[in-house]
Amino acid sequence: MVKASSVFVCQQCGTRFNKWAGRCENCGEWNSLVEQVIEGGKSAVAKSASKGRVLSPQTMQSIAADEVVDRLATGVADLDTVLGGGILAGGVILLAGQPGIGKSTLLLQVASSIARSNSVLYVSGEESASQVKLRATRLGADATDDLEFIASTSADDIAATIRAGKHKLVIIDSIQTLAMEDIASAPGTVSQITNSSNAIIRAAKESSAAVILVGHVTKEGSIAGPKVLEHLVDVVLQFEGDRYGGFKVVRAIKNRYGSTSEAAIFEMSESGLEIVENPSAALLAERHDADGSVVLATLEGTRPLLVEIQALVNPTNFGYPKRTASGFDLNRLNLLIAVLERRTKLDLSQSDVYINVVGGLKLVDPAADLAISMAIASAAAGRKLATGAVVFGEVGLGGEVRSVIGADRRVAEAKKLGFTYALAPTQSKKNAFIKPVDSLRQALIDHLKQ
Ligand code: TYD
Ligand code: MG
Repeated sequence: MVKASSVFVCQQCGTRFNKWAGRCENCGEWNSLVEQVIEGGKSAVAKSASKGRVLSPQTMQSIAADEVVDRLATGVADLDTVLGGGILAGGVILLAGQPGIGKSTLLLQVASSIARSNSVLYVSGEESASQVKLRATRLGADATDDLEFIASTSADDIAATIRAGKHKLVIIDSIQTLAMEDIASAPGTVSQITNSSNAIIRAAKESSAAVILVGHVTKEGSIAGPKVLEHLVDVVLQFEGDRYGGFKVVRAIKNRYGSTSEAAIFEMSESGLEIVENPSAALLAERHDADGSVVLATLEGTRPLLVEIQALVNPTNFGYPKRTASGFDLNRLNLLIAVLERRTKLDLSQSDVYINVVGGLKLVDPAADLAISMAIASAAAGRKLATGAVVFGEVGLGGEVRSVIGADRRVAEAKKLGFTYALAPTQSKKNAFIKPVDSLRQALIDHLKQ
């Protein structure tokens, strides 16, 4: 008789080993080997060749589309937009963010709003009933009978509860605290997270209850736990921003039922998270007209937003010049500094450069390039940009200013807030508000004067 044997497969690169090791010899990843049992000495692939039945597909034309399922409105219009029109029945949403950013707060607000007309269950593996009650009272979220609470960390129990079908929406705070009985490892480990999520997702699809999972992020900002989690769920929402005040932005980084280009902007107040009605005005309210300050017309999703970019340039005292960016990618900053040095002859080799994006926003828009570069040049030369100017445009390695999407929306927002012109890439369609710039060098010469 052939004995059952096993191989160890690296979960990172897929290499197979006969013996377990702490580190994969092929890709160098630590702790990535997982045992796989091969029964009867034959691999699953080899056995599969003689198994399986022929499937009978239908034509795309003959498939009956499900009637349009209605979605649960979250009570926050902007959040519904981000979700593509609300929460879909049977959909599983992952809400990821740093500790303390406001995930539990937002979900309790959403839960209480939906509970006005549907049955909602809030499961917490992190906080006790009395802790959550305290927060609910503060948010005014304890007013309906249809919002239920349970503290539990058992994925089996939660899945069974979802399958029972009583609740339209189940919120689970957080996926890292859950454990399945049959799995030996501790909560928060890869196998616990994957298996617990799978059990819950299956239960959600069976009972067509909507589920929102809270996920913590690592220091680097990615969702803690296996990458596969992102593939398993239908929607991944990212909650970003400054934990201590400032704006907090919820955006979809994956959405099976809608676009990923929308964003909702919140502010934490005494009574929970509130939508910021006019973010541009709020962001510019405390602006000082100093050198190094440039107003960028950016897009947050499809929505235009004016945000102040601040740069500070100081002589380096010791060693290497220091470059720091808050709210902007450091590699991109280094690249822009290199372009400035090479293409405009601005010497920054003995200067520390600091960049700050006001309001705790994180810029991912390529149109920020021109504003960042101009802010650095403005700070380095001690020359200001005119007060009425907003800036947007991508900067290429040759120092050329490249066009970006949404110029009309950016211009409209700048007009609305009383700006007088925009420094922007040359548009194919003439726009009187735009003073076109085609190279970074020319932009600095023509517009940094005072
Ligand atoms: P929380 O939602 O618990 O964050 P997370 O679940 O993402 O870890 O709360 C975030 C912070 O918000 C917390 O430090 C306290 C603060 N907060 C307010 O300022 N106002 C409020 O009404 C509430 C409920 C919390
Ligand atoms: Mg929390």
